[in-house]
Amino acid sequence: MKTLREVIQEARERRVAIGHFNVSNLEGFHAVVGATRELDLPVIIGVSEGERDFFGLDELVSLVKLYREKHGITIFANADHSYSFERVQDAIDAGFDMVIFDGVKLSHDENIEVTKKCVEYAKASGRDIIVEAELGNIGQSSKVLEDVPEGVATSEKFLTSVEDAKAFVEATGVDALAPAVGNMHGILKGGKNPEINTERIAEIEKATGVPLVLHGGSGISDEDFRTAIKAGISVVHVNTELRIAFKDGLETSLAANKDDIAPYRYMKPALEAMKAKTIEKLELFNGQ
Ligand code: 13P
Repeated sequence: MKTLREVIQEARERRVAIGHFNVSNLEGFHAVVGATRELDLPVIIGVSEGERDFFGLDELVSLVKLYREKHGITIFANADHSYSFERVQDAIDAGFDMVIFDGVKLSHDENIEVTKKCVEYAKASGRDIIVEAELGNIGQSSKVLEDVPEGVATSEKFLTSVEDAKAFVEATGVDALAPAVGNMHGILKGGKNPEINTERIAEIEKATGVPLVLHGGSGISDEDFRTAIKAGISVVHVNTELRIAFKDGLETSLAANKDDIAPYRYMKPALEAMKAKTIEKLELFNGQ
């Protein structure tokens, strides 16, 4: 079985992207696994701090290992957006394949210091763990938004600069970087999210030499995805659109079967709707 590092490197060379999908519960996990199985493509399962508190750290790691080792699925676990060193430490100790330290709210120097500490802790584990860091503001919430959050946009002053990205990667030794390139978490009500600055992606990838990760994968047009991936994005995160699919599927199911009290029946359409959305994104990220 290939390591996550190898899988990302291969995607980078082929100019396709690995899908990273957030889950909160077992049904979401099965939705993503179902999509991966159907297309036979690698996938990263992400859990934010809230999602992993609900799912359980050990539970997620055990399931990912089970599907990888027993069923031969190329699947990895990522501790998405960890806001403290302790959260990163817990995820590494639990056996995660990848961790993201998000120090965007810290001062630049503190962000470097804690990110470095995470990189050292991952190395000391003796396992091959991918450590990703964030540079630049892309907002925080995977939900439907009225407006673009303050400080997030494609205008020059909000984008991660090439110089900052290069210096940050050199100072911290991270394996992957999530820059701000016009992307944002969440989806704008009734509209399409701001455009992605694909030129900046290409410049940052060339200058840093590390794989780049595009967060905020909901609300981005197919065309923007295609050019962003060609420009150097190797992993794309999607959460909001999957949450919407799951909730819509559940609401429709509950409304149609008011007397049904069997979770394995009324939850199924939610799982199927999330699976269908995951398939759509995986096909797009893999140029299919
Ligand atoms: P969206 O919720 O916008 O899809 O972003 C997800 C994400 O980037 C999780 O890290």
